Amino acid sequence: MDKTPALAARYGAGAIPPAGPWNDTIAALLDHRSVRSFRPDPLPVGTLETLVAAAQSAATSSNMQTWSVVAVADPARKARLARLSNDQMFITEAPLFLAFLADLSRARRIGAAEGVEMGNLDYLETFMVGALDAALAAQNAVVAAESLGLSTVYIGCLRNDPVAVAEELALPQGAMAVFGLCVGWGKGRWEVKPRLAQAAVLHRETYRVPDEVALRAGYDRELRAFAERNEIAPYSWTERVKTRLGRLADLQGRERLRAALTKLGFPLR
Ligand SMILES: Cc1cc2nc3c(=O)[nH]c(=O)nc-3n(C[C@H](O)[C@H](O)[C@H](O)COP(=O)(O)O)c2cc1C
Repeated sequence: MDKTPALAARYGAGAIPPAGPWNDTIAALLDHRSVRSFRPDPLPVGTLETLVAAAQSAATSSNMQTWSVVAVADPARKARLARLSNDQMFITEAPLFLAFLADLSRARRIGAAEGVEMGNLDYLETFMVGALDAALAAQNAVVAAESLGLSTVYIGCLRNDPVAVAEELALPQGAMAVFGLCVGWGKGRWEVKPRLAQAAVLHRETYRVPDEVALRAGYDRELRAFAERNEIAPYSWTERVKTRLGRLADLQGRERLRAALTKLGFPLR
């Protein structure tokens, strides 16, 4: 896609940033959209391995590779994972569900095999390394999938009950599914969802709070128009942020994450 229409889709016509370099990779990145409806058709042979190769090509902290992925194709297991993820049934529809893990268990096994006390595994810092590694790997898989014409959607609801998910996937201590990813052939029309204007997120040299009231009003207008065009419930970004972060019920069980992580072998010191 050309630069100007791509930027207009991403920001709305009123907030297009100044022109800069452009190429097919950037065009593909700007064309991203989450898709929540999938055809049952299988993926071409080898797709999983290609996506994992893309994922493993992401940068990884100290090359420790503290992440893993569980590929789930069994319909019954996908259905159970969907139930654990707020009944998001497109998890069952997608031919492939990837559970991305912050995985410190491999390093634990190295410590056990080599007789080394791996005390640093117990710190919040190391859990963050695993979660960041998993996210960077997953996003590479998303970009690769989209480049093949496939569609994806992340599933953060996989953290609603991480202990049950760990049991379902037979995870060892020190591994936690930080999010899931549905992969398949998308069905229906899914539009690029506009983002906040760059002035809201881009700070130069130091952080300076911009005129967020005006920026928010503009973005709320964009998302309302997006909702109307896509025939979904009226969608105000401000309202979404208020409920998602102001109402405990919206955490859907994730308010107990610290206790779950302790059970899964992350003391988070
Ligand atoms: C870590 C993460 C978790 C997410 N979890 C869910 C989810 O559980 N269900 C869902 O429908 N979308 C989920 N999403 C997708 C976001 O809602 C989506 O990316 C956002 O609304 C922006 O839309 P877009 O991806 O189409 O640009 C998640 C996205 C991320 C990055």
